[in-house]
Amino acid sequence: MLDAQGRHIHYLRLSITDRCNLRCVYCMPENGIPVFTHGDILRYEEYLRLCRLLVPLGIDSVRLTGGEPTVRQNWLDLIRGLKDIPGIHRIAMTSNGVLFAGNADAAKEAGLDAVNLSLDTLDAEDYRTITRMGHLQNPMDAVQASLDAGLQVKINAVPVRSLKKQGLLDLAGLARDRDICVRFIELMPLGFGRTVRPLPLPELRQWLEEAFGPMEKDPQPHGDGPAEYFRPAGFRGSIGFIAAVSHAFCDNCNRIRLTADGQLKLCLNHASDLDLRELLRNGADDRQITEALKDAIARKPREHEFANHAIQDPEKRAMSAIGG
Ligand code: 5AD
Ligand code: SF4
Repeated sequence: MLDAQGRHIHYLRLSITDRCNLRCVYCMPENGIPVFTHGDILRYEEYLRLCRLLVPLGIDSVRLTGGEPTVRQNWLDLIRGLKDIPGIHRIAMTSNGVLFAGNADAAKEAGLDAVNLSLDTLDAEDYRTITRMGHLQNPMDAVQASLDAGLQVKINAVPVRSLKKQGLLDLAGLARDRDICVRFIELMPLGFGRTVRPLPLPELRQWLEEAFGPMEKDPQPHGDGPAEYFRPAGFRGSIGFIAAVSHAFCDNCNRIRLTADGQLKLCLNHASDLDLRELLRNGADDRQITEALKDAIARKPREHEFANHAIQDPEKRAMSAIGG
């Protein structure tokens, strides 16, 4: 459906857990953060009911996020359930890749179309430092297994100042011989993201051009996101930049978010939610839920206002509770 700004909202990011098996420095503190209890988070049937009601409102693309979605039991069942909903044309997932390699084939078979793997560097030591506990081999295996399974693969990297240049160049170099997009995402000043020094994208881009030559803009769309893509000469894949903070692309925003505990989030940086869990668990019927969803989408905020510190209802939850 169209929101009050006339934006076509068709993409749902569905967070299915706020737990994670890594502790990336810009996302979580070393000892983790309080997590939802089993009763807090929605059951798969509840997500599927909401998705069924969102299709007539225009949602045709769903991405599973977390925390880390693969740490929730039986996540493949949810993909199967989504695949069975007529009108959902694309199912994607964002994963840190720690547990993904062994599941890539089954996920493809269940109906997954695409996976975004979070990987910030190819330097094993830096990878361990930034994730506080990860082994580089796991996401590397996930990249290969996903390609072998026939999934569309992107890599999401958040460039921060403390990472060695070579590890970032090597990461971008993964797209040389593989049909993948390596995307660099500007660190957002949300939650623990405020505690880390970002590496500005223009500086990174200059390093990449020095290493790989001038980059030509790749005009093809690559999914539902707002990245700009470039293809250095001789590259099979591409390199993307997502400048979410410095170049707000709110005018073209196409998405809503549902948190694991059933809160509809209309904008990443606004907390103005609709409590769908309460509606679901208090016996609301489909028509009542549909009306509430319509009302909410219509009042989606115009922009994220990361730069506005006087914003009325800023987001205070951690990224792991929102799903990025
Ligand atoms: N800014 C940008 N991206 C972030 N992520 C987590 N925290 C932030 C932040 N503050 C990213 C992770 C992962 C995805 C789930 O969200 O790197 O790719
Ligand atoms: Fe886990 Fe992703 Fe947060 Fe890293 S950024 S701790 S992988 S949820």
